[in-house]
Amino acid sequence: MNKKIAIIGGGNLGKSIAAGLLRANVVRPEDLIITRRKIQFLLSFSEQGVNVTSDNHKAVNESDIVIFSVKPHKINDILLSVKSDILKKKPIVISTVTGVKLTELAGILGNTISLYRTMPNIAISVGESMTCISTNSRDEVQNNTIAGLFNVMGHSAFVDDDLMGAATVLAASGIAFAMRYIRAAMQAGIEIGFSSELSKQIVTQTVRGASVLLQENNIHPESEIDKVTTPRGITITGLSKMELHGFSSSLVQGVLASFEKIKEIK
Ligand SMILES: NC(=O)c1ccc[n+]([C@@H]2O[C@H](COP(=O)([O-])OP(=O)(O)OC[C@H]3O[C@@H](n4cnc5c(N)ncnc54)[C@H](OP(=O)(O)O)[C@@H]3O)[C@@H](O)[C@H]2O)c1
Repeated sequence: MNKKIAIIGGGNLGKSIAAGLLRANVVRPEDLIITRRKIQFLLSFSEQGVNVTSDNHKAVNESDIVIFSVKPHKINDILLSVKSDILKKKPIVISTVTGVKLTELAGILGNTISLYRTMPNIAISVGESMTCISTNSRDEVQNNTIAGLFNVMGHSAFVDDDLMGAATVLAASGIAFAMRYIRAAMQAGIEIGFSSELSKQIVTQTVRGASVLLQENNIHPESEIDKVTTPRGITITGLSKMELHGFSSSLVQGVLASFEKIKEIK
Protein backbone atom coordinates (compact mmCIF):
# COMPACT_ATOMS: atom_id res chain seq x y z
CA MET A 1 0.00 0.00 0.00
CA ASN A 2 1.54 3.27 -1.08
CA LYS A 3 0.16 5.33 1.79
CA LYS A 4 1.59 6.99 4.88
CA ILE A 5 -0.03 5.84 8.08
CA ALA A 6 -0.10 7.49 11.53
CA ILE A 7 -1.07 5.75 14.75
CA ILE A 8 -2.06 8.25 17.43
CA GLY A 9 -1.68 6.41 20.73
CA GLY A 10 1.10 3.82 20.67
CA GLY A 11 -0.17 1.76 23.60
CA ASN A 12 -1.10 -1.93 23.70
CA LEU A 13 -3.34 -1.91 20.65
CA GLY A 14 -1.52 0.87 18.75
CA LYS A 15 1.75 -1.06 18.99
CA SER A 16 0.00 -4.30 17.99
CA ILE A 17 -1.41 -2.57 14.88
CA ALA A 18 2.01 -1.14 14.05
CA ALA A 19 3.59 -4.59 14.42
CA GLY A 20 0.84 -6.09 12.22
CA LEU A 21 1.30 -3.45 9.50
CA LEU A 22 5.06 -3.95 9.41
CA ARG A 23 4.80 -7.73 9.52
CA ALA A 24 2.36 -7.69 6.58
CA ASN A 25 4.64 -5.32 4.65
CA VAL A 26 1.75 -2.97 3.89
CA VAL A 27 3.74 0.02 5.01
CA ARG A 28 7.44 0.77 5.05
CA PRO A 29 8.86 1.73 8.47
CA GLU A 30 9.67 5.23 7.18
CA ASP A 31 6.03 5.67 6.08
CA LEU A 32 4.68 4.85 9.54
CA ILE A 33 4.42 7.36 12.40
CA ILE A 34 3.48 6.39 15.95
CA THR A 35 2.72 8.96 18.63
CA ARG A 36 2.44 8.88 22.40
CA ARG A 37 3.68 11.16 25.17
CA LYS A 38 6.18 8.70 26.64
CA ILE A 39 8.04 7.90 23.42
CA GLN A 40 10.70 5.90 25.30
CA PHE A 41 8.18 3.03 25.22
CA LEU A 42 8.36 3.01 21.40
CA LEU A 43 12.10 2.34 21.19
CA SER A 44 11.66 -1.06 19.52
CA PHE A 45 9.84 0.73 16.66
CA SER A 46 12.25 3.66 16.28
CA GLU A 47 15.04 1.08 16.06
CA GLN A 48 13.24 -0.40 13.02
CA GLY A 49 13.12 3.02 11.31
CA VAL A 50 9.54 3.92 12.28
CA ASN A 51 8.95 7.62 13.01
CA VAL A 52 8.19 8.05 16.68
CA THR A 53 7.02 11.36 18.10
CA SER A 54 4.78 13.10 20.63
CA ASP A 55 3.69 15.58 17.98
CA ASN A 56 0.18 14.60 16.88
CA HIS A 57 -0.02 17.59 14.48
CA LYS A 58 3.06 16.41 12.58
CA ALA A 59 1.68 12.86 12.47
CA VAL A 60 -1.66 13.99 10.96
CA ASN A 61 -0.05 16.44 8.54
CA GLU A 62 2.27 13.77 7.12
CA SER A 63 -0.25 10.92 6.75
CA ASP A 64 -2.92 9.63 4.37
CA ILE A 65 -4.50 7.38 7.00
CA VAL A 66 -4.67 8.31 10.70
CA ILE A 67 -5.55 5.63 13.25
CA PHE A 68 -6.64 6.92 16.67
CA SER A 69 -5.98 4.31 19.35
CA VAL A 70 -6.30 6.15 22.66
CA LYS A 71 -8.45 5.56 25.74
CA PRO A 72 -12.11 6.56 25.39
CA HIS A 73 -11.86 9.48 27.87
CA LYS A 74 -9.04 11.01 25.83
CA ILE A 75 -10.40 10.87 22.29
CA ASN A 76 -12.52 14.06 22.30
CA ASP A 77 -9.68 16.32 23.46
CA ILE A 78 -7.16 14.71 21.11
CA LEU A 79 -9.50 14.96 18.10
CA LEU A 80 -10.27 18.60 18.92
CA SER A 81 -6.55 19.37 19.19
CA VAL A 82 -5.83 18.05 15.67
CA LYS A 83 -9.18 18.93 14.07
CA SER A 84 -7.81 21.81 11.97
CA ASP A 85 -4.94 19.59 10.71
CA ILE A 86 -7.43 16.87 9.76
CA LEU A 87 -9.77 19.28 7.96
CA LYS A 88 -6.83 20.68 5.99
CA LYS A 89 -5.06 17.42 5.13
CA LYS A 90 -8.27 15.28 4.88
CA PRO A 91 -6.77 11.89 5.71
CA ILE A 92 -8.90 8.77 6.13
CA VAL A 93 -9.64 8.64 9.87
CA ILE A 94 -9.81 5.32 11.68
CA SER A 95 -10.77 4.97 15.33
CA THR A 96 -10.24 1.89 17.48
CA VAL A 97 -11.69 3.65 20.51
CA THR A 98 -14.18 1.59 22.46
CA GLY A 99 -17.67 3.01 22.90
CA VAL A 100 -17.28 6.07 20.65
CA LYS A 101 -19.88 6.05 17.89
CA LEU A 102 -19.39 7.25 14.32
CA THR A 103 -21.91 10.03 14.99
CA GLU A 104 -19.79 11.22 17.93
CA LEU A 105 -16.64 11.24 15.79
CA ALA A 106 -18.52 13.10 13.03
CA GLY A 107 -19.88 15.48 15.70
CA ILE A 108 -16.29 16.63 16.27
CA LEU A 109 -14.77 16.33 12.79
CA GLY A 110 -17.84 17.03 10.64
CA ASN A 111 -19.21 15.01 7.76
CA THR A 112 -16.58 15.84 5.14
CA ILE A 113 -14.07 13.34 6.52
CA SER A 114 -14.27 9.59 5.83
CA LEU A 115 -14.58 7.93 9.20
CA TYR A 116 -14.00 4.28 10.03
CA ARG A 117 -14.72 2.88 13.47
CA THR A 118 -12.87 -0.40 13.93
CA MET A 119 -12.65 -3.06 16.58
CA PRO A 120 -9.56 -5.24 16.12
CA ASN A 121 -8.07 -7.52 18.73
CA ILE A 122 -4.44 -7.84 19.83
CA ALA A 123 -3.87 -10.80 17.48
CA ILE A 124 -3.52 -8.07 14.85
CA SER A 125 0.20 -8.07 15.75
CA VAL A 126 0.53 -11.60 14.33
CA GLY A 127 -1.84 -11.09 11.38
CA GLU A 128 -4.76 -12.94 12.97
CA SER A 129 -7.17 -10.26 14.18
CA MET A 130 -10.90 -10.35 13.66
CA THR A 131 -11.70 -6.71 12.96
CA CYS A 132 -15.25 -5.37 12.72
CA ILE A 133 -15.59 -2.07 10.87
CA SER A 134 -18.37 0.52 10.62
CA THR A 135 -18.19 3.62 8.44
CA ASN A 136 -19.98 6.74 7.23
CA SER A 137 -18.28 6.39 3.83
CA ARG A 138 -20.20 5.31 0.74
CA ASP A 139 -17.01 5.23 -1.31
CA GLU A 140 -16.79 1.53 -2.22
CA VAL A 141 -13.21 1.76 -3.48
CA GLN A 142 -12.08 3.39 -0.26
CA ASN A 143 -14.10 0.93 1.84
CA ASN A 144 -12.37 -1.92 0.02
CA THR A 145 -8.99 -0.30 0.68
CA ILE A 146 -9.69 -0.14 4.42
CA ALA A 147 -11.08 -3.69 4.50
CA GLY A 148 -7.94 -4.78 2.60
CA LEU A 149 -5.74 -3.05 5.16
CA PHE A 150 -7.29 -5.09 7.98
CA ASN A 151 -7.57 -8.27 5.91
CA VAL A 152 -3.81 -8.50 5.58
CA MET A 153 -3.73 -8.52 9.39
CA GLY A 154 -6.46 -11.16 9.79
CA HIS A 155 -10.11 -11.01 8.76
CA SER A 156 -12.53 -8.09 8.69
CA ALA A 157 -16.27 -7.56 8.38
CA PHE A 158 -18.34 -4.41 7.92
CA VAL A 159 -21.13 -4.17 10.52
CA ASP A 160 -23.70 -1.54 11.54
CA ASP A 161 -22.30 0.96 14.00
CA ASP A 162 -24.90 -0.26 16.55
CA LEU A 163 -23.14 -3.65 16.59
CA MET A 164 -19.69 -2.30 17.45
CA GLY A 165 -20.26 -2.75 21.19
CA ALA A 166 -21.11 -6.39 20.59
CA ALA A 167 -18.04 -6.69 18.34
CA THR A 168 -15.90 -5.32 21.16
CA VAL A 169 -17.10 -8.05 23.50
CA LEU A 170 -17.01 -10.97 21.07
CA ALA A 171 -13.71 -10.19 19.32
CA ALA A 172 -11.62 -7.82 21.47
CA SER A 173 -12.59 -9.21 24.89
CA GLY A 174 -13.16 -12.54 23.16
CA ILE A 175 -9.45 -13.12 22.79
CA ALA A 176 -9.14 -13.04 26.60
CA PHE A 177 -12.05 -15.47 26.89
CA ALA A 178 -10.37 -17.83 24.42
CA MET A 179 -7.08 -17.58 26.31
CA ARG A 180 -8.82 -18.40 29.58
CA TYR A 181 -10.20 -21.57 27.91
CA ILE A 182 -6.66 -22.40 26.80
CA ARG A 183 -5.24 -21.80 30.26
CA ALA A 184 -7.91 -24.00 31.89
CA ALA A 185 -7.38 -26.77 29.35
CA MET A 186 -3.61 -26.55 29.92
CA GLN A 187 -4.20 -26.87 33.67
CA ALA A 188 -6.29 -29.99 33.02
CA GLY A 189 -3.52 -31.29 30.75
CA ILE A 190 -1.01 -31.00 33.57
CA GLU A 191 -3.44 -32.85 35.89
CA ILE A 192 -3.52 -35.78 33.45
CA GLY A 193 0.22 -36.01 32.93
CA PHE A 194 1.69 -33.41 30.54
CA SER A 195 4.31 -30.79 31.29
CA SER A 196 3.06 -27.21 31.13
CA GLU A 197 4.94 -26.61 27.86
CA LEU A 198 3.64 -29.73 26.12
CA SER A 199 0.16 -29.09 27.46
CA LYS A 200 0.24 -25.59 25.90
CA GLN A 201 1.47 -26.97 22.58
CA ILE A 202 -1.29 -29.60 22.50
CA VAL A 203 -4.08 -27.22 23.54
CA THR A 204 -3.12 -24.26 21.33
CA GLN A 205 -2.75 -26.44 18.23
CA THR A 206 -6.03 -28.20 19.03
CA VAL A 207 -7.82 -24.83 19.28
CA ARG A 208 -6.18 -23.68 16.03
CA GLY A 209 -7.29 -26.92 14.35
CA ALA A 210 -10.88 -26.43 15.55
CA SER A 211 -10.91 -22.85 14.21
CA VAL A 212 -9.43 -23.75 10.83
CA LEU A 213 -11.84 -26.70 10.43
CA LEU A 214 -14.83 -24.43 11.02
CA GLN A 215 -13.50 -21.59 8.86
CA GLU A 216 -12.40 -23.71 5.90
CA ASN A 217 -15.40 -26.05 5.82
CA ASN A 218 -17.96 -23.38 6.76
CA ILE A 219 -19.76 -25.74 9.11
CA HIS A 220 -21.47 -25.49 12.49
CA PRO A 221 -19.40 -26.64 15.50
CA GLU A 222 -22.09 -29.04 16.65
CA SER A 223 -21.87 -31.11 13.45
CA GLU A 224 -18.11 -31.55 14.06
CA ILE A 225 -18.78 -32.37 17.72
CA ASP A 226 -21.21 -35.08 16.56
CA LYS A 227 -18.37 -36.67 14.59
CA VAL A 228 -16.17 -37.09 17.68
CA THR A 229 -18.80 -38.09 20.22
CA THR A 230 -19.13 -41.88 20.13
CA PRO A 231 -22.26 -43.14 21.94
CA ARG A 232 -21.35 -43.89 25.58
CA GLY A 233 -17.85 -42.67 24.69
CA ILE A 234 -15.10 -40.63 26.29
CA THR A 235 -15.80 -37.26 24.63
CA ILE A 236 -19.53 -37.10 25.36
CA THR A 237 -18.82 -38.05 28.99
CA GLY A 238 -16.44 -35.10 29.33
CA LEU A 239 -18.74 -32.69 27.50
CA SER A 240 -21.73 -33.65 29.64
CA LYS A 241 -19.71 -33.11 32.81
CA MET A 242 -18.54 -29.70 31.56
CA GLU A 243 -22.11 -28.67 30.77
CA LEU A 244 -23.22 -29.90 34.23
CA HIS A 245 -20.71 -27.41 35.64
CA GLY A 246 -22.05 -24.61 33.42
CA PHE A 247 -19.48 -24.53 30.60
CA SER A 248 -21.68 -23.01 27.87
CA SER A 249 -23.91 -21.01 30.18
CA SER A 250 -20.98 -19.46 32.06
CA LEU A 251 -19.49 -18.34 28.75
CA VAL A 252 -22.80 -16.87 27.58
CA GLN A 253 -23.33 -15.15 30.95
CA GLY A 254 -19.78 -13.75 30.84
CA VAL A 255 -20.32 -12.32 27.36
CA LEU A 256 -23.64 -10.79 28.46
CA ALA A 257 -21.99 -9.28 31.57
CA SER A 258 -19.25 -7.72 29.40
CA PHE A 259 -21.92 -6.41 27.04
CA GLU A 260 -23.73 -4.75 29.98
CA LYS A 261 -20.45 -3.29 31.23
CA ILE A 262 -19.58 -1.75 27.88
CA LYS A 263 -22.58 0.56 28.21
CA GLU A 264 -20.80 2.23 31.17
CA ILE A 265 -17.67 3.11 29.11
CA LYS A 266 -16.82 6.86 28.93
N1 LIG B 1 -6.17 -3.48 23.87
C1 LIG B 1 -7.10 -4.08 23.11
O1 LIG B 1 -7.13 -5.30 22.96
C2 LIG B 1 -8.13 -3.25 22.40
C3 LIG B 1 -8.90 -3.86 21.40
C4 LIG B 1 -9.82 -3.09 20.71
C5 LIG B 1 -9.97 -1.75 21.01
N2 LIG B 1 -9.25 -1.18 22.01
C6 LIG B 1 -9.42 0.25 22.27
O2 LIG B 1 -8.31 0.92 21.69
C7 LIG B 1 -7.93 2.04 22.49
C8 LIG B 1 -6.49 1.87 22.95
O3 LIG B 1 -6.43 0.74 23.81
P1 LIG B 1 -5.06 0.28 24.46
O4 LIG B 1 -5.34 -0.96 25.16
O5 LIG B 1 -3.97 0.31 23.42
O6 LIG B 1 -4.80 1.47 25.51
P2 LIG B 1 -3.40 1.97 26.06
O7 LIG B 1 -2.44 0.85 26.15
O8 LIG B 1 -3.67 2.80 27.27
O9 LIG B 1 -2.87 2.93 24.89
C9 LIG B 1 -3.29 4.25 24.72
C10 LIG B 1 -2.07 5.09 24.45
O10 LIG B 1 -2.46 6.42 24.18
C11 LIG B 1 -1.33 7.23 24.50
N3 LIG B 1 -1.75 8.62 24.66
C12 LIG B 1 -2.37 9.20 25.70
N4 LIG B 1 -2.53 10.51 25.46
C13 LIG B 1 -2.00 10.75 24.23
C14 LIG B 1 -1.87 11.90 23.42
N5 LIG B 1 -2.28 13.10 23.83
N6 LIG B 1 -1.30 11.78 22.21
C15 LIG B 1 -0.84 10.57 21.77
N7 LIG B 1 -0.94 9.44 22.50
C16 LIG B 1 -1.51 9.54 23.71
C17 LIG B 1 -0.80 6.63 25.81
O11 LIG B 1 0.60 6.75 25.92
P3 LIG B 1 1.27 7.98 26.71
O12 LIG B 1 0.70 7.95 28.11
O13 LIG B 1 2.73 7.71 26.64
O14 LIG B 1 0.87 9.21 25.97
C18 LIG B 1 -1.14 5.14 25.66
O15 LIG B 1 0.02 4.37 25.38
C19 LIG B 1 -8.92 2.09 23.64
O16 LIG B 1 -9.96 2.97 23.33
C20 LIG B 1 -9.41 0.66 23.74
O17 LIG B 1 -10.69 0.59 24.30
C21 LIG B 1 -8.30 -1.88 22.68
